[in-house]
Amino acid sequence: MKYIPIFGLLFASWTLAAQQVPYWYNATHERRIDSLLDIMTLEEKVGQMTLFTSDWAVTGPTIREGYQDDIRTGRLGAIFNAHTADYNRNLQRMAVEETRLGIPLLFGYDVIHGYRTIFPIPLGETASWNLEAAEEAARIAGRESAAAGLHWTYAPMVDIARDPRWGRVMEGSGEDVYLGKKMAAARVRGFQGEDLSDPLTILACAKHFAAYGAAQAGRDYNTVDISERVLRETYLPPFKAALDAGVATFMTSFNEVDGVPATGNHHLLTDILRDEWGFMGFVVTDYTSINEMIPHGVAADSAQAGLLAVKAGVDMDMQGAVFYEKLAGQVRSGEVPMARVDDAVRRILRMKYALGLFDDPYRYSDTEREAQNILTEANREASRRIARQSLVLLKNENDALPLNAERGRILVTGPLADSQADMLGAWHGDGRAEDCITLLTGIRDAASDGAEVTYVADMAEAVRSARRADIIVVAAGETWEMSGEAASRADITLPGDQEDRIRQLAATGKPVVVVLFNGRPLALPGVDSVASAILEAWFPGTEAGHAVADVLFGDYNPAGRLPMTFPRSLGQVPLYYDAKNTGRPRDENNKYTSKYLDESNDPLYPFGYGLSYTTFEYGTPSLASATVNRNDTVTVTVDVTNSGDRDGATVVQLYVQDVVGSVTRPLRELKGFERIELAAGETRTVTFHLTNDDLSFYRQDMTYGTEPGEYRLYVGGDSRAANPLTLTLE
Ligand code: NOJ
Repeated sequence: MKYIPIFGLLFASWTLAAQQVPYWYNATHERRIDSLLDIMTLEEKVGQMTLFTSDWAVTGPTIREGYQDDIRTGRLGAIFNAHTADYNRNLQRMAVEETRLGIPLLFGYDVIHGYRTIFPIPLGETASWNLEAAEEAARIAGRESAAAGLHWTYAPMVDIARDPRWGRVMEGSGEDVYLGKKMAAARVRGFQGEDLSDPLTILACAKHFAAYGAAQAGRDYNTVDISERVLRETYLPPFKAALDAGVATFMTSFNEVDGVPATGNHHLLTDILRDEWGFMGFVVTDYTSINEMIPHGVAADSAQAGLLAVKAGVDMDMQGAVFYEKLAGQVRSGEVPMARVDDAVRRILRMKYALGLFDDPYRYSDTEREAQNILTEANREASRRIARQSLVLLKNENDALPLNAERGRILVTGPLADSQADMLGAWHGDGRAEDCITLLTGIRDAASDGAEVTYVADMAEAVRSARRADIIVVAAGETWEMSGEAASRADITLPGDQEDRIRQLAATGKPVVVVLFNGRPLALPGVDSVASAILEAWFPGTEAGHAVADVLFGDYNPAGRLPMTFPRSLGQVPLYYDAKNTGRPRDENNKYTSKYLDESNDPLYPFGYGLSYTTFEYGTPSLASATVNRNDTVTVTVDVTNSGDRDGATVVQLYVQDVVGSVTRPLRELKGFERIELAAGETRTVTFHLTNDDLSFYRQDMTYGTEPGEYRLYVGGDSRAANPLTLTLE
C-alpha cells in the first residue's frame, strides 16, 4: 500500500508538468494532505465536501437549521453568507478547537462587484474595456472581503450572454467571447493575486459551468440546447481563460446541457474540465443544484442525484445536504469509490492549505485590519474612478453635454435620481444604501453657486416645472431588483410610464439628458428619438452620483463602449454582432432574404459603440504582410488621432472574418482591442499582433486550428468598422 501514493505522486507530478501546474500547487501541501486523508473518517471527508449557508443571509430557497452543530462534529467544512472578522472567527473556533482534527472552515460569499465599497456591476465595468480597472476592482473587493473574514468569492461570473431578457447579464462581461476571456482572467488575477497565502487575497470561482447564459428565451434557469461547437466556441473559452489565470474553483450551473444537467454532467466536469484542461482546484455546485436534478427529471430521488453529481466530478455540495446525508452510505455500499471522495477532499484541502489556513486559521479574522480596510477613502476614490470609465455616452445631439456647472437652471427628475439603494445594483455583497451617492447629490456637489439645481421627484410634476429650466436631467431605468438572479424580463423597454414622461418632457422644447441606470441592454428607440443626450450608467456603485456628475459636467470625458448590443426591439433578440451571414443575407430589394417585415435587422446601438466629447479619426490600417504562413504572427497597425479639442480615451478595436471555412464563420469576431488616452490633437500608432490561436476555430471535424484562405480584418471604433484589409493565410 505504501508504494501506491508515492507512485501516484510521481505520476501526478509528471502529468502535471505536461499540463502546467497552477501557481498555488505545492508538493509539501500534497504530502500533508496524504497524511490527513489517512486519518480522516469517511464522515469527516464528506464534511469537507459539504457547504451550508449560515443564518446570516440566504440567497436561495432552503435554510438549514443547526449548521453550527455540524461544524462541531466535523460534518461541515465550508460556510457561505457568514462574514465579518468577528463572526467568522467564532465559527472558525468551533471547527478548529472543537473538532477531532481541527480542520479549518472555508468561508465563501457572493462578492461580485465589491464587498462593502461597491464598484459598477460587472457588465458596466466591462464597458470600460479597461482590464487594469477590472483587476483593480476585484483586488479591492478581495482585500475588503479578506479583511471581513472571507476566503472565497463566487466570482467572476464568466457566462457569455446574448439575451438581454436574462437578468443575470448584469453579472458578466456581455456577449463577446474575446472580451469575456480577457475580463475573466483580469478578475481572477484581481481576487487571487499572485500568492494565495497572502491574507489580502481570496479564492475566485469561475461560474456557472457551463452555458448558463444560453437559457432559452432569457428566462432564468431555463433549458439550454446548444451544439458542442457553440459550447466550445462561445461558452467555454472564458472558463478556460479563468483556468489559465489560475482560478481556484469552478461552480456548476443550474441548466442542462444537451439533456444532462450541468451538475451531473460528466462530459463537462470530468472530460473537459479535468481531463482536457487539467483543472486542479475544486468544483462546487450551485445552490441545491444536486437536488434540482429531480425536477430536471434525471434522478428519481436525492440519492440518485447525489450519485450523478459525485460521479460527474462535483467536489462540494452547496446547501443541498445530499452528500451530507447520502454519500457516506454510498461509499460503504460500493456505489461510490473511496478514491473519488479522496480526490474531492484533496482538491478542497489543497485550497485550504494554499490560503495558509492550516498555519493560522484566524489569519482572516483580524478586526483591526477589518476596520482599516473597509470602505476607505482610497477604495471609494477607486470606485469613482472606475465607475466613470464604465459610463457609455449613447447620444449627444448638438453637444447637449457636457453641462455647464457655472450657470443655468438644471431640473433633475426621474425615479432613480435620488435612490441610494438602486445605485448598488444586484449582488452588492455587504454594500449599503446609506454609503451611496445619488445622482442628485452628485449634481449638487458638482454644480457651483451660479447654477440652480431643482429636483422634482415626480416626472409628471416635472413636466409642469420644465418651462423654468434650461436643461432637464432624467434619471430613468430599472430598480436594482429588476436584474440579477431570478430577474428576467419579457419586456426590455423602460418600466412603467418612464418613456411617456420623457416624451412629455422633451415636448416642452427643453433639452432632455437621460441618464440610464439598468442591468441589461434596453430597447430604447422611443427615448433615442426624443432625448438630446443619453448616458448609459448601468449601476455604478457606491460613488454613482459623483462618477455620473464627473461625466455630465465634463470633468471626465466619457470613453465607455458597449459590451452588449442594444436592440431596437425585443423581437430582434437575441441580437449580437458576431452573427453568421446566412445563405440569404438581408437585401432590402429582395423579399426572400433574412429580415423582418416590421423591423430593421440593425441594432439601435452596436457592440463596441460609445461616444466621446472629442472626436477620433482612424487612419488607413496596414498589414506588415498580406500573406502569412500558419505559424506567423499577423501584425496590424493603425494611426488614431484625437481630432477634437479635448483630451479623451478611445477603444481601438480589431475584428476578423474568416471568409470561407469548412464550417460557417461569424461575419466578424473581436480579436484585439486597446484603450488609449490621447491628448487633443495627438496621434498614436496602435499595433495588434494576431497569433495562430486568434485565427483558429473548431473545424468541421471538431479539431481546433486554422484553415488556409482569406481573412478580412476590420479596425475601428466599434463593431461596424468598415473597409477591411485582406489577409491570406497559406
Ligand atoms: C445561486 C447563484 O446562481 C450563484 O451565482 C450564487 O453564487 C449562489 N446562489 C450562492 O449565493
